[in-house]
Amino acid sequence: MDGALTTTRAVRRRLDLNRPVDHQIILDCIDVAEQAPTGGNQGSRRWIVVGDDEKKQKLADLYMESAGAWMVETRDRLAGTGHHNERVMNSAAHLAENLARVPVIVIPTIIGRHDGSGRPGLFDSVIQAAWSFCVALRARGLGTAWTTAILNNEDDIAELLDIPDTVTQIAMLPVAWTVGTEFSPAPRYPARDITYVDGFGRIYDRGPSFPPTMADGPGTVVEHDVRAPLEKVWEAISDISMPADYSTEFLGARRVDDGQLAVGSSFIGTNTHEARGQWEVECFVSHYVDRRTFGWVTSDRDNPGARWRFDLEPIAGGVRVRFTMNLGPGPSGITQVISSRPELEPRIIERRLAEHRSNMIRVLDGLAERLADDDQPQAGPETGFTQA
Ligand SMILES: Cc1cc2nc3c(=O)[nH]c(=O)nc-3n(C[C@H](O)[C@H](O)[C@H](O)COP(=O)(O)O)c2cc1C
Repeated sequence: MDGALTTTRAVRRRLDLNRPVDHQIILDCIDVAEQAPTGGNQGSRRWIVVGDDEKKQKLADLYMESAGAWMVETRDRLAGTGHHNERVMNSAAHLAENLARVPVIVIPTIIGRHDGSGRPGLFDSVIQAAWSFCVALRARGLGTAWTTAILNNEDDIAELLDIPDTVTQIAMLPVAWTVGTEFSPAPRYPARDITYVDGFGRIYDRGPSFPPTMADGPGTVVEHDVRAPLEKVWEAISDISMPADYSTEFLGARRVDDGQLAVGSSFIGTNTHEARGQWEVECFVSHYVDRRTFGWVTSDRDNPGARWRFDLEPIAGGVRVRFTMNLGPGPSGITQVISSRPELEPRIIERRLAEHRSNMIRVLDGLAERLADDDQPQAGPETGFTQA
């Protein structure tokens, strides 16, 4: 089961365009998919399987018009540049150029119109089923790609396939046998980084135990989407003093060694806190990956009192900045406070993390405002792709 779930990839270049797909296998996969939950236990999903060559060609034309032409243009522009979207654009453009040749195109739909409430509503009675369909295909040696770009042309699709305006189209799934059946899991965030315990942004290195202790490596994450080019954001977050422009605790930093910052470089940070006054702490750069990750640890490089880190991820229209801090494992101000009142350990941890969190939010809010670039282009068509 995990094998199918972790390898149900967006298959585009490895769709076998020459091997017919029997209708019964599609029905079998829909029977599997129909076991998904549905609001009010009403079976409102309807599946359209398009195998007619002329209709597939019309869908292909609509796809080319809505996003395919942009995908082809982007693929040609990125060719040979090493851009992070080069591979996916190659694949997307290939699908756009070959859609009419795919054996069948499946459009899951649901009876009803969304109420526009901003809640999943109608959609969460169909998306699980449509995804189960994709996994069921994969389990049988077929593949597909979840595509939605064409839905900009919903009215044209409705006219082509006689879909009433009381019915909502969810995706367009080109279905074929796959060329080979080996697919690998994709790089994704590890669950620990994106699973928050008892509150948004609350993470642990291990465990956690309930109530949490310092031994769990408690931490907090703050994220902000910044509308600015990657280079500008990197320049800001790899500046050791930058957080001092916005934090109420961190006052600034000075280098101890010279030269280009690298893993192992050290600097002295100055902090202030109403309960503790002003203090200095030596910090060591722990992560330095150009335009990706900048991290440092405090007081002892082998047994730090805290670990801090910025991660950058290019996203549509800018950069997602992820700012993470974890307490421990070594001694620090907080471990002194805990040793004087050990029975209050969970509360002391919670309070300290809340202080760090509000400063981290200040830093990212301030940075986003300072770097916001109105000239930064808007995202491309709604294809699930990063701005390329
Ligand atoms: C909401 C959504 C819309 C998408 N729309 C398109 C699309 O229109 N065309 C396309 O080729 N891929 C589309 N994709 C597929 C993603 O680009 C795909 O997931 C990505 O390439 C990563 O590949 P993977 O799923 O194999 O990890 C879409 C995915 C999602 C979740």
